[in-house]
Amino acid sequence: MQRLRSFISVLLIALLALGHACVLAAQGAAIASAHPLATEAGHEILERGGNAFDAAVAVSAALAVVEPYSSGFGGGAYFLLHRARDGFDTMIDARETAPREARADMYLDASGKPIAGASLIGARAAAIPGMPAGLVHLAERYGRLPLAMSLAPAIKLARDGFAADQRYLQLAQLRSGVLQKSTQAARIFLLDGKAPTAGSRLRNPQLAATIDAIAARGRRGFYAGPVARELVAAVRAAGGIWQPADLSSYAAVERTPVKFTYRGARVTTAALSSGGGITLAEALNIVERFAPGDAHSVPTAHLVVEAMRRAFQDRNRFLADGAFVGVPVGLLSSKDYAAERAHSIDLERASASEALVDDAQLAQGTDTTHFSLIDAEGNRVAATLSINYLFGSGFVAGSTGVLLNDEMDDFTVRPDAPNAYRLRMGSANAIEAGKRPLSSMAPTFVEDARGVLIVGTPGGSRIISQVLLAILDYVQQPSVDLQRILRAPRYHHQFWPDEVEIEPSGFGEQWIADMQTRGHRVRKAGRLWGNMQLVFRNNATGLAEAASDPRGAGEAWY
Ligand code: DON
Repeated sequence: MQRLRSFISVLLIALLALGHACVLAAQGAAIASAHPLATEAGHEILERGGNAFDAAVAVSAALAVVEPYSSGFGGGAYFLLHRARDGFDTMIDARETAPREARADMYLDASGKPIAGASLIGARAAAIPGMPAGLVHLAERYGRLPLAMSLAPAIKLARDGFAADQRYLQLAQLRSGVLQKSTQAARIFLLDGKAPTAGSRLRNPQLAATIDAIAARGRRGFYAGPVARELVAAVRAAGGIWQPADLSSYAAVERTPVKFTYRGARVTTAALSSGGGITLAEALNIVERFAPGDAHSVPTAHLVVEAMRRAFQDRNRFLADGAFVGVPVGLLSSKDYAAERAHSIDLERASASEALVDDAQLAQGTDTTHFSLIDAEGNRVAATLSINYLFGSGFVAGSTGVLLNDEMDDFTVRPDAPNAYRLRMGSANAIEAGKRPLSSMAPTFVEDARGVLIVGTPGGSRIISQVLLAILDYVQQPSVDLQRILRAPRYHHQFWPDEVEIEPSGFGEQWIADMQTRGHRVRKAGRLWGNMQLVFRNNATGLAEAASDPRGAGEAWY
């Protein structure tokens, strides 16, 4: 009897604890991702007892299946992590690397001119994928559940299929010409050579088998054995330059995130090999020297554009993979350096980018996707994942079902030749064997007395300006309003071309005229940009909320 009573009381305590945990999970956890099925995969893993890091593996792998145009096992990623137990922050750099046969001039013709499309389309445009290694690292070092469990929802989606949404149809249509060039890509992503029609079910059982191999054998499931052999054979047969050693030597690397403050808020963001965080730090440090108001008012927009102009100038000339090039990261993200760069800003008149060429003397040393996630314990992940351009290189490697990236285009193909995002970069970011191409991805945490904001987005070079505007808005808001941050129209300047690019709606004629009066060339882009995913956890209440960009088709759960 005594025994039975103590058994019942243990059971009651356990049930109470479980109930409590569920309430906490519902209150403190949140996910925002670019696809409802990926958010659902993350939710499922949290429900099964996984932490934020396990859920991040599930969301990433599911996105690789349901958003094949944005990211995937053939691409790379940056995972910014915060571990609640000890407050440890780190970034997993799972960026792709250039194969060992890569050369600085590999995309130039005999006369030294870039060959159109060479760094963007087909097997030769693909760098060595980092995503599989990143996910294995994330699960093994930080997760609580077995990798196979966190990958299970993605395997099921790839094997059983999912309904193509409007976004998929549009993007497949847009890139059908490129996908047709690869037999396997056309077979998987198109229907009789054309974009599938609404309601089509998309299956990729070969990709399911590849993910299964990773689930069973960890990184060896991808970077060695039959999958690796098939990847190399298919890439080489299509004119690419991968070698088995490129795969076997690939490693995801942990980096210390870039940290700085903006008007008292603590910002933790991407380190090299992404230039996103350093560029963000320089721009915000410059803005902070003045008295910024609403980021969309003309006087502040003028100031922000001038800060972007200078920060992008430095991005494009100084930043590159720190393992290959000496980059003065501390200096570029310092308040002193911002003060120096702010000197040439005229608060009434636009500077000309070309006039800034010798302004600072330093020793020269979509598509993509983002999700933000927090669990009930306060572990956080901000992850930006990419295969670069829409559907990457458009090349699926043999029977692996893996669509390869075209991240080689993020290198400097030739100094000053604009890449797909019109970035003109210098020789620091030249192609070298084993090097990581410079990225703009900027998964970020912003912490202040109110709580923590987890933020990020795709958008090529416009990632940096979007995250910057989100931080300006967040800090300026008297009380946090995620929808407002997302709805705000976006502007961008990247030093060259010397113009303020704006979204086609949301800026009035008067705004444009006032910016022009200050000397800015303002250009309306053809479409809206970005697909930002936000999570905010309120310190006072412990409650978390999430929101997905209305420009995309994502889903927030909290
Ligand atoms: O790493 C980068 O900066 C680019 N490859 C990101 C590409 C991207 O965001 C495309 N999205 N629209």
